[in-house]
Amino acid sequence: MIVPAAAPLPDLIGRYKIERILGRGAMGVIYQALDPVIDRRVAIKLIRSSLIGGEERDDYLERFQREARAAGRCMHPNIVAIYDFALHQGDPYLAMEFVDGVSLAEVLRERGRFAAGDAVAVILQVLDALDCAHAAGVVHRDVKPANVMLLAGNRVKMTDFGIARFGGSDLTQHGTTIGSPSYMSPEQCRGEEVDARSDLFSTGTVLYEMLSGERAFPGPDLTGAMYRLLNGTPPRIAGLETALTAVLWRALAKAPDLRYASAQDMAAALRSMQRADSCASATMVSPPTQSRIAPAEVERAERALAAYLGPMAKILVRRALPGAGSVSILWDRLAAHIGEEPGRSVFLRQRDG
Ligand SMILES: Nc1ncnc2c1ncn2[C@@H]1O[C@H](COP(=O)(O)OP(=O)(O)OP(=O)(O)O)[C@@H](O)[C@H]1O
Ligand SMILES: [Mg+2]
Repeated sequence: MIVPAAAPLPDLIGRYKIERILGRGAMGVIYQALDPVIDRRVAIKLIRSSLIGGEERDDYLERFQREARAAGRCMHPNIVAIYDFALHQGDPYLAMEFVDGVSLAEVLRERGRFAAGDAVAVILQVLDALDCAHAAGVVHRDVKPANVMLLAGNRVKMTDFGIARFGGSDLTQHGTTIGSPSYMSPEQCRGEEVDARSDLFSTGTVLYEMLSGERAFPGPDLTGAMYRLLNGTPPRIAGLETALTAVLWRALAKAPDLRYASAQDMAAALRSMQRADSCASATMVSPPTQSRIAPAEVERAERALAAYLGPMAKILVRRALPGAGSVSILWDRLAAHIGEEPGRSVFLRQRDG
């Protein structure tokens, strides 16, 4: 983040003593500050509303305050709490919980992709936060890595609920601001009404980027990103478990009706996958002794499955082994993980030769 050396740092915003700049976004600046009354560190988001014209100004500020109030009602361990809303020299600002962490955007930039289990653990917390907000009638509208903060102990806090449309952003249509196109839902990109399912699409784009290290709908420019978002499908992620791939594609369905109906539904799909994995690792700790299948045959099946499913093949084979009385049953069980034809038939043909 480039902050000009000469950038003047205000001493005070409201009663808050400004300590330093934490970051800049399209909407304005985030400061670290101290609330001297409560002796608590806070983050202040000062919105640059200078572009808003005189007549629209009052309406803008009123809508902003309404949205800040709604976001303020979302009390959840995975949501950055809003403490205060006021004006500083005519510009609105929010005082909020200071998060001692880094944004997922920075982590992705510096560290690249995540292991599947780690990505799912982050996304589950994002979905819990969204579920709470949706229940309070708040659609986030700007789910993206920069708005997901990661803290020690793998904890996640989401920020900027509902306020994306109040700033100057990457994309403006008829004076209405909409978020960064790389993480937007198709309906949002078209300027249509959005509901909770739009946030689930955006969550899908974040999950995709965490798993692949690449944006789901990259540029090279704004028009390119929009074209891909509206018409294209992101490349399959090699080696990704089929169950996780299925969750991803459902979240990224172009039509909201084809996505998960709620954050809770999407979280349930991810949790059931996690449970299956933990059964698998329990099996790995104490491998079944009752299998009558020769180790060489087990290895052969695993190699064949790995060609379709990558590293997950090992876990799936261990899970399929208990009670699989014959090589044939083992292969049948494994074939069920290959969702598409002709892949499944091609896989099964390798069983006999
Ligand atoms: N509550 C907070 N506590 C600590 N740091 C924060 C907090 N909120 C945001 N930040 C930091 O400030 C940076 C800038 O945040 P900001 O919301 O202004 O911009 P953005 O999310 O990148 O873009 P946009 O303006 O489109 O929302 C974030 O990436 C994060 O590193
Ligand atoms: Mg932000």
